[in-house]
Amino acid sequence: MSVVQLNIVNFRNLTNTSINFHPNLNIILGENGSGKSSILEAIFFLAHGKSFRTTKVENIVCHEQQKLIVNIKDQAENSLGISRDLLTNTLVLKLNKHRIVKLSDLAKNIAVQIVTPESFKLFFGGPKERRRFIDLGLFHVKHDFSNKWSHFNKIHKQRNACLRNKVSQQELAYWTNEFCNYSELIANDRECYVNQLKLELTKWLTILLPQLTEKIEIHYSKGWSSKKKLFDVLIENNERERLKGYCSAGAHKFDVKFTLHKQPLELVISRGQQKLFLLALTFAQAKLIEKVKQVKPILLIDDIGAELDVNSRSALAKALELLSCQSIVSAINKVDLAPLIAQSELGNKDNYKMFHVKHGEISIE
Ligand SMILES: Nc1ncnc2c1ncn2[C@@H]1O[C@H](COP(=O)(O)OP(=O)(O)OP(=O)(O)O)[C@@H](O)[C@H]1O
Ligand SMILES: [Mg+2]
Repeated sequence: MSVVQLNIVNFRNLTNTSINFHPNLNIILGENGSGKSSILEAIFFLAHGKSFRTTKVENIVCHEQQKLIVNIKDQAENSLGISRDLLTNTLVLKLNKHRIVKLSDLAKNIAVQIVTPESFKLFFGGPKERRRFIDLGLFHVKHDFSNKWSHFNKIHKQRNACLRNKVSQQELAYWTNEFCNYSELIANDRECYVNQLKLELTKWLTILLPQLTEKIEIHYSKGWSSKKKLFDVLIENNERERLKGYCSAGAHKFDVKFTLHKQPLELVISRGQQKLFLLALTFAQAKLIEKVKQVKPILLIDDIGAELDVNSRSALAKALELLSCQSIVSAINKVDLAPLIAQSELGNKDNYKMFHVKHGEISIE
């Protein structure tokens, strides 16, 4: 899909904003604090029901206001909307003007991927973000994954409560069985997805990190030892789990790791290379989503120039052109965008749109 029009009310410093986007490349320029990231954040908020910068909704509602609204219209005239009211503590979701209850029913209709200057630090910083990344792809490519995952979470909570409350072995055994069954189902989906991602990733690394493409390896852990059955692991850990009051192994412990010369990738490659790697992974995921859903994801890149030299920016421009999704990128300096504009059909102004944002007001360049 592509966003044709975005309307924002009271989202950070964007008090009342409407933007008509280009179906391919959109560039948002502006000084520090002008509102560039907030525009991307508003689109992300609509697609995910949360911000990529904060977990507190009070931070994103415009100061001294109580309600934010974000709406988009897509190329097929569908409208998607989200509003959050601090006073009544309500979240209202709308699809084509009809109210819907589940966030996943809204999120199914829009696949948004984001890369920010912080993304690679988060991604390499711990398993939680890597799980989130893989599961976001699965949410879009495997239609029943989100049901399995929410069911697993309920079982996980239930089993932890049993461990904390020191229930009988018999009662615990029921939840252990359920927990193992769902962990296996989720592990199978993830394994299949990671294998597809590996293949697709190679193509994008060839463009973005050609010197390292062949040398990077992907490993994943299901969340327990690959040599054992989860049930046996949990039996072995029974005493320790009862003492601690939570599950020691299972689908919630899944992780995917990347190595170069058998070392963790993030310890061997530079910050710029880490950003390029994450871009390649994001592009690979976007392609897999497109293949399965037949719908193009929307790519947001915040502060595109950060960490990248001119050659890397040229490689990124080439990759973006090949990806051929709608992309919305922000930058502080026009010079950071030179390769991107040159790549966009040799700078033909019909092939992209450039916006300027100043104190939350948007104008066309
Ligand atoms: N809840 C809020 N209400 C009103 N204004 C806010 C709120 N939260 C943040 N702001 C302001 O919104 C402005 C836009 O912030 P944003 O992060 O979008 O800027 P930016 O253009 O991305 O800047 P940079 O180039 O530094 O990344 C900032 O001046 C910030 O102080
Ligand atoms: Mg910013």
